[in-house]
Amino acid sequence: MTIILGIESSCDDTSAAIICDGVICSNVVASQLVQDRYGGVVPELASRAHQQNIIPVVDQALKKANITKEELSAIAFTRGPGLLGSLLVGTSFAKGFSTALDIPLIDVNHLQAHVLAHFIKEDTEDTSQPKFPFLCLLVSGGNSQIIRINDFEKMEIIGQTIDDAAGEAFDKCAKVMGLPYPGGPVVDKLAKQGDADKFKFNKPRIANYDYSFSGLKTSFLYFLRDELKKDADFIEKNKEDLCASLQKTIVDILMDKLRLAAKDTQINEIAVAGGVSANSGLRNAFVDHAQKFGWNIHIPKFAYTTDNAAMVAITGYYKFLENDFCDKSVVPYARTSI
Ligand code: KG4
Repeated sequence: MTIILGIESSCDDTSAAIICDGVICSNVVASQLVQDRYGGVVPELASRAHQQNIIPVVDQALKKANITKEELSAIAFTRGPGLLGSLLVGTSFAKGFSTALDIPLIDVNHLQAHVLAHFIKEDTEDTSQPKFPFLCLLVSGGNSQIIRINDFEKMEIIGQTIDDAAGEAFDKCAKVMGLPYPGGPVVDKLAKQGDADKFKFNKPRIANYDYSFSGLKTSFLYFLRDELKKDADFIEKNKEDLCASLQKTIVDILMDKLRLAAKDTQINEIAVAGGVSANSGLRNAFVDHAQKFGWNIHIPKFAYTTDNAAMVAITGYYKFLENDFCDKSVVPYARTSI
């Protein structure tokens, strides 16, 4: 049996997971509540919290999976992209642990891991994984991309944002409305009680399969500024409708390009990944598209939408099968593509 320990520490979640022959055995995540007080992630604080969390989190992941460290086949860790100080904690731990156990070390690209999260099996009977080739809409706080996946290691970005990411659009617009960080989940919750057609915001005109969200952010800001001049309580009175209309606009922008890409490539195997894939409006849009256009959709479990080590472990598992290991002198990278 191939048993992989995955370690994720790219941003503000310290996570460890065990995957046995592609099947999830444990996935432990320690989220750093310390960041909430500052309205965003403070890199220095994030690194320190990873230092505190990493050993207990790995220990719990092993215990929950009922695995001893001597049974591990390899250790996979997130090498980047992410915050360098945070990545260094996971990288150093993984190097030390793999050296001590004398087992291979596997470096994992965080973006690739988000996509391959769709291959995590819940049990040995689970056959819900996407078939190659498939398209994946990767939407998070730092990315908005349409990726064509030809194989586990063969991925091609066919469209991406030229400025802000979709998650950033949610977070920044939420901030303007005085909502707490991260704004995405709060907007999602309030949107459920609002009228999505109450306000109209401009959609960008961008070529090909690329995205742009900075214009929406600015028009949202100016719209609120103008309305607040007329009524100081405008946001408070219209919070739900504003959230619903904003969410509808972001989801429409995302789906318009994805639909175009699916049509042009004639691929109807379509997945979504990344933090924003938790959004209920986006999930509903996927279900609608499946019905209207015959898409075979793949929506991740909530636990695999935000940062988690299960996706790192599954990526490590497929790299392990290819003997794709890394050297102990490997260093993390803050920025990289798929
Ligand atoms: O992938 P992720 O956990 O982290 C990185 O980007 O590294 O994504 C975080 C992003 C944030 O912008 C957050 O607001 C957004 O995902 N997000 C959501 C929802 N849950 C998380 N956006 C909209 N609706 C949600 N339910």
